[in-house]
Amino acid sequence: MPLRFNEHLRIGKDPEEAARLGADVLVDGLRHRPAGASVALAGGSTPALLYKLLTKSPYREQLPWSDIHWFWGDERTVPPDHANSNYRMAMETLLGPLGASADHIHRMPADQPNRENAAADYERTIRRHIPPGQNGIPAFDLILLGVGADGHTASLFPRSTALHESARLVVPNYAPAPNAWRMTFTYPLLNAARHILFFVTGEQKAEIMRRILVDGDKNLPATALRDAAGQVTWVLDEAAARLVHSLLNP
Ligand code: 6PG
Repeated sequence: MPLRFNEHLRIGKDPEEAARLGADVLVDGLRHRPAGASVALAGGSTPALLYKLLTKSPYREQLPWSDIHWFWGDERTVPPDHANSNYRMAMETLLGPLGASADHIHRMPADQPNRENAAADYERTIRRHIPPGQNGIPAFDLILLGVGADGHTASLFPRSTALHESARLVVPNYAPAPNAWRMTFTYPLLNAARHILFFVTGEQKAEIMRRILVDGDKNLPATALRDAAGQVTWVLDEAAARLVHSLLNP
């Protein structure tokens, strides 16, 4: 399935070059945004390389980082200081070193006992800080996402309930693979973003990236975001892109 008009594919020869490509895309995408730009961060392990790079020259000097409102696209049901917390990972690798403003950091409260209320609270926080785009849904300037080896993105796992949510923007979602509850953005919110940046590295992602980008396999949650309203940029390293080169020379 060829890339759509709004899709871009950038491939780095190794994770470090892919991180530089990702940093270039993120900075260029935010450079001309007025103060109050909004970014939703990805969790997992892959983004840490990109986050650390953004805190160093030449990227550190290129944006008014303290003007940006920071959110998370999904979170595990763990406290903010837990080793598996997406919030902790981003604070340690990106927001702490950047000196991001505390009142601009909006942690996703997935560890709250009442998950439904916590998800609704987070949606209210998003609506309070981000102007509505088309059809009244807040339009993030940039949402950073990873892809799991099963094709999930954020915490939208294959065959999970949240895939079918069409009204709420943030929901709890049970993830069968890690056998755990998560909290996640839903498709309505993800699809409304001005720019979605997928950052995927490693040989273990090659096959799933082939199914998403070459096959356009609709059974995989990440595939649905290829139809997002805004720009979709896929930044991969060579190992993750091993089976998708046909897309570059259609
Ligand atoms: C999470 C992430 C998730 C992640 C993928 C890839 O909470 O785990 O938000 O969607 O992006 O699982 O994870 P890795 O980068 O660790 O492969």
